[in-house]
Amino acid sequence: MKGCARAAAVMLIGLLGWSAQAQTQTQTYPSRPLTMVIPFAAGGPTDVIGRIIGEQMSRSLGQSVVIENVVGASGQTAGLRVSQAAPDGYTFLIGHTGTHAAAVALNPKLRYDPLSDFTPVGLVNTNPILVVARKTLPASNLREFVAYLKASEGKVTNAHAGIGSVSHTTCLLFNSIVGIKPTEVPYRGTGPAMNDIIGGQVDYLCDQIVNVAPQVQADTIKAFAVAQAERARSLPGVPTTDEAGLPEYKVQVWNAMFLPKDTPRPILDKLNEALVAALASPAVQTRFAELGADVPARDLQSPEGLHRFIRSEIDRWTPVIRKAGAVLDQ
Ligand code: MLT
Repeated sequence: MKGCARAAAVMLIGLLGWSAQAQTQTQTYPSRPLTMVIPFAAGGPTDVIGRIIGEQMSRSLGQSVVIENVVGASGQTAGLRVSQAAPDGYTFLIGHTGTHAAAVALNPKLRYDPLSDFTPVGLVNTNPILVVARKTLPASNLREFVAYLKASEGKVTNAHAGIGSVSHTTCLLFNSIVGIKPTEVPYRGTGPAMNDIIGGQVDYLCDQIVNVAPQVQADTIKAFAVAQAERARSLPGVPTTDEAGLPEYKVQVWNAMFLPKDTPRPILDKLNEALVAALASPAVQTRFAELGADVPARDLQSPEGLHRFIRSEIDRWTPVIRKAGAVLDQ
């Protein structure tokens, strides 16, 4: 009995010690650099957005935010890695429409649950999609482009960032609306895919405005339409899909920040505060405006708003993926 009491006392002291240590860690967070995991190659849209926001967040957190590009399985390798990381606030993910919505219908063996295996931090940005092509492609507007695709079926190449990436799913939608089946060319991100569009090695790409705007401004590629109702402020010369004659094609994608599940609330709140402050900063707002990314509504920048949003996005993308018959099996 005496022995039992002593063991219980030792355990209690241990637990108290552990919880005091956890409390100190929470209070001093962050006391070392943080790792932001980006699920695609450097230079692409997810990487660009991550770096803009990470730099600003590091100022308010007082610690550097180190970017780690973890590529593979269209973002799912990075998703799995963060879902299994220690819930201490030092490793977080920039996920997107692909990793946290389309992946659910696309991959029957998805090894993480986008809702229950993560602690949502907040939505970072939304981005319209544009249909772009190599400069030498013989078409000067969307109608001519679609006519070219139909006439060259079997020969045209559609670059994307892997099955289930947003450049893949949003082009699946485009291809099914216009009724063509191109040869698909997967890359590790649309940074490298864009390089090959510029070089003329592949024909076309459906990509996010943040990756497209600098190239259209530099006149290195052709942009046929922006898939939203209004022209993008960063690309006022590019028609909308309504104007270009394909009103059914409208698609927006997003990036969002996630911690592993069970991250303590005080840590979540600190990271969320840093995200919200970054999104309100003139530096981020100016850079987003130059590239064409939109700052989300304040409610969606919150953990609860993001949780609701992910649920609705899974519901929105599941029928799209099923209809297109796309499957990723890994
Ligand atoms: C995609 O899903 O297409 C990605 O956002 C590509 C990337 O970020 O490089």
